[in-house]
Amino acid sequence: MTGNYAQPEVNIGLVGHVDHGKTTLVQALSGEWTDQHSEEMKRGISIRLGYADATFRQCPGLDEPERYTVDETCPDGSESEPLRTVSFVDAPGHETLMATMLSGAAIMDGAVLVVSATDPVPQAQTEEHLMALDIIGIDNIVVAQNKIDLVDREQAERNYEEIQEFVEGTVAEDAPVVPISAQQEVNIDLLIQAVEEEIPTPERDPDADPRMHVARSFDINRPGTEWDGLVGGVLGGSLVEGKLTSGDEIELRPGREVEEGGETRWESIETDVRSLQAGGETVEEVTPGGLLGVGTGLDPSLTKGDALAGQVAGTPGTLPPTWEQFTMEVDLLERLVGLDDQDIDDISTGEPLMLTIGTATTVGSVTSAREGECEVALKRPVCAPEGAQIAINRRIGARWRLIGVGTLTG
Ligand code: GTP
Repeated sequence: MTGNYAQPEVNIGLVGHVDHGKTTLVQALSGEWTDQHSEEMKRGISIRLGYADATFRQCPGLDEPERYTVDETCPDGSESEPLRTVSFVDAPGHETLMATMLSGAAIMDGAVLVVSATDPVPQAQTEEHLMALDIIGIDNIVVAQNKIDLVDREQAERNYEEIQEFVEGTVAEDAPVVPISAQQEVNIDLLIQAVEEEIPTPERDPDADPRMHVARSFDINRPGTEWDGLVGGVLGGSLVEGKLTSGDEIELRPGREVEEGGETRWESIETDVRSLQAGGETVEEVTPGGLLGVGTGLDPSLTKGDALAGQVAGTPGTLPPTWEQFTMEVDLLERLVGLDDQDIDDISTGEPLMLTIGTATTVGSVTSAREGECEVALKRPVCAPEGAQIAINRRIGARWRLIGVGTLTG
């Protein structure tokens, strides 16, 4: 470790409707642009989960909220004091990318719901993302009323009232609403203050067995690299418990599909930790919270293109079970988000469902449906403990829509 570098200790989700300014806000807070995939640059939308870290700081000589900053230098030229380093999980707002948003929510400790002051409230994914936070149990929320530079005072006030009405009765009911301009960097200090107050670093047990939720995986070798220059596969995600140290043995579940005698089955993968990256630095040990990169001894072809996203990593023999089918208790929403006039029909035997469990997204076919409960057979198995929360999506028209929450019972 170098200087006053601090490992990120909390994951803050950026959620909300497409183009409302999530990526711009992450950039204002961290100086990094999270849309780094060429396809994203071209289309101007986020497709995958973006990651960025920022250190929130304060200038002790100033009053609140002016004292909060991400700059290392205070207006009077003195050095600011670091408060804590946070990781941002920037979820895509496009309606077709709900699965990515849901899998990102699994590693969020709290969230900033970005709502543009230029549009009527709520837009479809403003509502759907808030519902998803509710389902996954994320209740530390700050609402950023963005793009206030584009509206006059009257519209800003009207929009503010619409936001207040919209969050009433939801998990964000008591969330502060902070008017900002991410692009013009207006009121960023107020937003940092709200995040510091509303989204505390969760208490975690550093002595527990390490448990990492894998959200991304990469092959970082340049095409054409000779075999002796190849670096092992890299896992990106978040450690929710315990510590990981360079050299540790790890197991990944569900692992990979193997074929034997014409039959396929899933087998966990074991490897070792070759390097650890957190907060943009190479470190020897990582503690829970924040986003990290784990260099492994895996064949990079296994980790290419997010192939291991959704897996769980930890000390061999300590991980929860892998399920190819399971029973879940089901709690359906009262109505479809964004389509107010449509009720949600009961789940029926034979129907396909898209399920998000932790960072894993899988499609399951309902093999038996009863009142408040159903059994599903999964296309890709998942690793999860009994009692895990499941976001349930049904295909309606051209896309998957959130219809309820499940609890894995066995
Ligand atoms: P997705 O990730 O695709 O869901 O979009 P996003 O919510 O991340 O939106 P993004 O940050 O890409 O911003 C969309 C557009 O709004 C960009 O052209 C931004 O420059 C612009 N924008 C974002 N914030 C502000 C703001 O505060 N004021 C103004 N004037 N424009 C903004």
